[in-house]
This record gives sequence, structure tokens and C-alpha cells, in this order.
Amino acid sequence: MAMVNFLIFGPPGSGKGTQSVKLAEKFNLMHLSTGDMLRAEIAAGTDLGKKMSSIMSKGELVPDEVVIEMIAAMTDSTKNKAGFLFDGFPRTVAQTEALENMLNERGMKIDCMLVLEVDHDELVKRLMLRAELSGRPDDKDPAVIENRIDVYREKTEPIIDYCRQRGIYQPVDGVGTIDEIFARLSNLIKERI
Ligand code: AP5
Repeated sequence: MAMVNFLIFGPPGSGKGTQSVKLAEKFNLMHLSTGDMLRAEIAAGTDLGKKMSSIMSKGELVPDEVVIEMIAAMTDSTKNKAGFLFDGFPRTVAQTEALENMLNERGMKIDCMLVLEVDHDELVKRLMLRAELSGRPDDKDPAVIENRIDVYREKTEPIIDYCRQRGIYQPVDGVGTIDEIFARLSNLIKERI
């Protein structure tokens, strides 16, 4: 059966990670989060992790090549999966083009971009709340939270237009309970899988 591939998209704190874990389980999708992969490198104390941690703690994007390589290393490990769920990747137009090429080479494409829409104040509220629990350095400083949102608007949001032109853009109301949003996303995935 052909794989159906989704991007879960939205600003920091919009719920991408929370929803991805649940959706991957429900629909047997391969969940790939570049943020999780980078944090695993940091936790393991690798050279790459050491280099990337200062960039991440400022809320800047790591270089495109780093994340493209991480994703490329994973795109063949898809045994028995219904599709990919890319979370926090791509984040630049260059990453999007690289992903499309990787998928095309394997006879696949990006089938749908699910964009979680959450207003600025709600994003900040969620991330400040998480800062107390998660220990993520990029949640601790309100200025870094603002920078992450700015970086999203400037470098990542242009991907929406790119995907809109391809007819795969699907906005989703990202405000509500986790279960409500999960139901909205599940309905959209069910229609396509
Ligand atoms: P990444 O790990 O991708 O983090 P992010 O985009 O900043 O996103 P978050 O994890 O903060 O938010 P989320 O949308 O996943 O929301 P979550 O479900 O966690 O990236 C981190 C860094 O790594 C980047 O800044 C960059 O440096 C680097 N990086 C990663 N990928 C890269 C790439 N491709 N290119 C370059 N650099 C890259 O939810 C947030 C909080 O809200 C949680 O506490 C959650 O419990 C809560 N919450 C979720 N849903 C709800 C709800 N409905 N109501 C109330 N609270 C909720």
C-alpha cells in the first residue's frame, strides 16, 4: 500500500509534539521530530549535540544540512508504516525542497500539511508553563520564546505559501483541549489514509 505522508506544522508551543505522538500511534505513522533527534544528540553528549545546543538554547535554527542529514538517515526505515509524520521539519524552504527530493526519489510525496493555528499569547502561556516542568533551556527565558516565534514567522511560515501552491495546505484550529484538537486532526488524516 502506498505511504501517505504528513507534515505537522505550526509555531513553537502549537502542540505539534503532543499531537504527533498520539497520531503516530493511532494511524501507524513513522513520527520524525528533528527537535527530539537534536535533543537526543545533546543528551548523549555527542560532538554534534555539543555544537547544536548553544544554537538551540538561543531559539535559532540549526543549519539546514544538519537536519536534512538526520532525516535522510531515517527515510528508509519505514517497515510496515502507513506513512511519515514529520514534526518540526521542514523549517525552511530549502529543507522543504530537500524533503520533496528525498521523497520523490522513493516514489513518494508530501501528501498533506496540517497547520496548527494558535494565537501568540496562548503559545507564550503554554511554553512558560512547560518551562517549569520540562527543563528545556529554550523555554526558560521569555526573550528566547519570543525569538523562537519570530524565527518561525520569518523563516518557517513561508513554507505555508509553498505548500498552498501545491494544494496540500490544511489549516487546523489548534486552540482547545488536547483531545478536541486530536479529534480534528484525526478526522483530516482519516480522509487521506
Ligand atoms: P522543536 O523541538 O521542534 O521545538 P518547537 O518548534 O520550538 O516546538 P515545541 O516543542 O516547543 O512545541 P510543539 O509545537 O511541539 O508543542 P508541544 O506539543 O511541545 O525545536 C527545538 C529547536 O531545535 C529549534 O528552536 C531549533 O533550534 C532546533 N530545530 C528543530 N528542528 C529544526 C529544523 N528542522 N531546522 C532547524 N532547527 C531545528 O506543546 C507545547 C506545550 O503546550 C506542552 O507543555 C504541552 O503539554 C502544551 N500543550 C499542547 N497542546 C495543548 C493544548 N491543546 N492546550 C494546552 N496546552 C497544550
